[in-house]
Amino acid sequence: MKFQWANTTRVIFGVGEIERLGEESARIGKHAMIVTGKSSTKKTGLLDKAVKLLNDSGVKTMIFDKIEPNPRAATIDKAASIVGNNGCDFVIGLGGGSAMDASKAVAVAASVGSKIWDHIYSGPDKTPLDVTSALPIVTVPTLAATGSEANGGAVITNWKTKEKAPLIHPLMFPRFSIVDPALTTTVSRDYTADGGVDIISHVMESYFSCTDYTPLQDRFSEGVIRTVMDHLPRAMANGDDIEARTQLSWCSTVALCGIVNSGRSGGFPLHWMEHAVSAHYDISHGRGLAILMPHLMRYTAETNPDKYVQFARNIFFADTNTMSRDDAVDAGIAMFEEWMKKTGVYFTLSDVGIDSEKFETMADDIIRLYGHGNDFIPNARPLYKKDIIRIFEMAL
Ligand code: NZQ
Ligand code: ZN
Repeated sequence: MKFQWANTTRVIFGVGEIERLGEESARIGKHAMIVTGKSSTKKTGLLDKAVKLLNDSGVKTMIFDKIEPNPRAATIDKAASIVGNNGCDFVIGLGGGSAMDASKAVAVAASVGSKIWDHIYSGPDKTPLDVTSALPIVTVPTLAATGSEANGGAVITNWKTKEKAPLIHPLMFPRFSIVDPALTTTVSRDYTADGGVDIISHVMESYFSCTDYTPLQDRFSEGVIRTVMDHLPRAMANGDDIEARTQLSWCSTVALCGIVNSGRSGGFPLHWMEHAVSAHYDISHGRGLAILMPHLMRYTAETNPDKYVQFARNIFFADTNTMSRDDAVDAGIAMFEEWMKKTGVYFTLSDVGIDSEKFETMADDIIRLYGHGNDFIPNARPLYKKDIIRIFEMAL
């Protein structure tokens, strides 16, 4: 096992920690652009509160409040031009993953003076522009889901071409993030559910897609999965359950901060497939993952069966010694699917109004954007176009 791991984000975690936004930001810069979504931070009063905390600490503010879920390259370019013209010296992403990702992309585009899509790998025919600089970034998550608060990635959608792809660079780690679980109590039941599935997927993807020997990482993954499974139903039943919200926020931050997946090869096939679905149909990221997840598991389990047996044993305490290997594999997947149904996070493509019309187009996009010149995407069982289409069909 060989890997490098670095995470340069200082995470300030806990209920009430939002109060530190002003004093901490004053150490980063003098004039912040707050990048946020269209409505939730206004409705909850968080935007006003953030502005006051910043102004009271001597930090000037300017607001860009036009970020849509699945943030679009054109919107980011607009925000970046405003930053440049107004002398903002750092960017604060206030909101869900979309606002946080947008803030990172704005920090790059404003600093380099480029269009954000020019930095993004969108197929073997185009070499993306280097990220050579970025304004300092601060993030304040209001939704437990993406883990953007503790990583150097942003996922951007090109609405014209219906492509969705990540930009990942060390300069895009937030300088600090304030993860205050109390800010998530207003998240709707649906987005809470989608966020929980997203967190599980972040530690489950390479758990299954790699065949490396990574026992510590496996224990990390299983810990995050079990913690989300215990607390997601509570947060969905009662949005004000601060203990449950706290655990979900902590799982979100830990899941994609780098340490859990260190040393694992394989890939993120579920995410790559989902990105095509939300690029074409603009559905919630977590909902798309929930739709595809059990089918990807079932389709690829036979190439990594021991990991699925381990999943049945360590997540569901199944007595796998008394079963054949095939039965243990099936049992783990069936129990997970059952948990999804019981919790209310099991959906089909038809549930969100998607039919087979674009399966081919989406499969082509996935191979082009994530195959890096190959005609498949990496996984324990590499997925070719026909495999991707089959998984979509299973999810109908
Ligand atoms: O848009 P606003 O008005 O802010 O409302 C949002 C949006 O409608 C609302 N919301 C957020 N916080 C709330 C709230 N409503 C009430 N109370 C609150 N406290 O929730 C809706 C969804 O928000 P969004 O930010 O889109 O959701 P999420 O956090 O799931 O982010 C999804 C985006 O992140 C990308 C996804 O692809 C998608 O574009 N991802 C980013 C990753 C990363 N940077 O590491 C990794 C992920 O795998 C993911 O791909
Ligand atoms: Zn995700």
